[in-house]
Amino acid sequence: MKRCLLLGGNGFIGSHLAEALVVSGFEVTIFDSREQKRPDIRQESIGYIKGDFLNENDLTHALDDTDYVFHFISTTLPGPSLESPVCDIESNVIGTVRLLQQCCKAGVEKIIFPSSGGTVYGEPDTIPVRETDPVRPVHPYAISKMTIEMYLRSFYEIHGLDYLVLRYANPYGERQMPFGNQGVIPIFLYAIMEGRSPVIYGDGSMVRDYIYISDLVDATIALIKKRPPERLFNVGSGSGTSVHELLGTMAEVLGVEIDPLYADPPGIYISRIILDISRMQHYTGWKPRVRLAEGIGRTYRWLESLP
Ligand SMILES: NC(=O)c1ccc[n+]([C@@H]2O[C@H](COP(=O)([O-])OP(=O)(O)OC[C@H]3O[C@@H](n4cnc5c(N)ncnc54)[C@H](O)[C@@H]3O)[C@@H](O)[C@H]2O)c1
Repeated sequence: MKRCLLLGGNGFIGSHLAEALVVSGFEVTIFDSREQKRPDIRQESIGYIKGDFLNENDLTHALDDTDYVFHFISTTLPGPSLESPVCDIESNVIGTVRLLQQCCKAGVEKIIFPSSGGTVYGEPDTIPVRETDPVRPVHPYAISKMTIEMYLRSFYEIHGLDYLVLRYANPYGERQMPFGNQGVIPIFLYAIMEGRSPVIYGDGSMVRDYIYISDLVDATIALIKKRPPERLFNVGSGSGTSVHELLGTMAEVLGVEIDPLYADPPGIYISRIILDISRMQHYTGWKPRVRLAEGIGRTYRWLESLP
């Protein structure tokens, strides 16, 4: 049984992954800065360590007897990293390089890292975009992700620390909070629930590859179990949806009319991104199972259940 330390396991993706790893027979301990393990994680066998990943002492203790490290902490979001790229480098990049050094010292076998399939390619020449296509990150968040990807390769080549990079598309679902500036699906659904108009940045034609959280987690587990010879994978649904199509699906699922507002698009944005997922499918046989309409319905019901 592999012992997994899940950094950021109290978050949106990490918490779903923690539960699925246990179901798949892994031993899991969450490491997160929040006071306690989140109450909606029901499996008692999941351990919890409160700590700051930027604090070397906290990590040294947590890394004892760990086979796999899942590094699902990002200290910044795309918005703040744009305002403060130095802070992004200092916390995410330097923090991660320290983590890699500590993993080597602690004898960790493998590190799994979620990169950003939605941003590292920049504006792709062709879609769907493949892992072998050029990366042209423009956003500081994307540059940090790419820099970390390169350090992962470097630590593997130099120190033998194995790794897996997952370039995630746009995940959505239960536990993705609707209050920040990331996660257009819960943000729109929450606005609709409160009787507000969702705000579309741009003209509604931006295309993204949305993947429901359980599909993303299943794909992640399939890749970990299969141990494929490649170390870099796109993880998405492989299909694209424009913002207008997204709102159309929401209107259908919820049986409401939606009257959006329009605002200027952000200074940096990618107009169209869809991930080519054939590499992942080739090694795992995985297919997305939850259609957008179904995932939207589930996410809405979860939002309604929030206290
Ligand atoms: N959500 C997305 O759309 C998306 C897409 C692609 C990649 N990713 C990546 O996946 C990872 C997880 O994303 P998420 O959406 O689940 O994030 P999240 O914000 O929901 O969870 C992050 C967790 O990290 C913890 N954390 C933050 N700083 C910490 C620190 N210094 N020490 C200890 N814990 C700390 C937080 O308490 C939180 O529980 C991130 O690396 C993110 O960049 C996310």
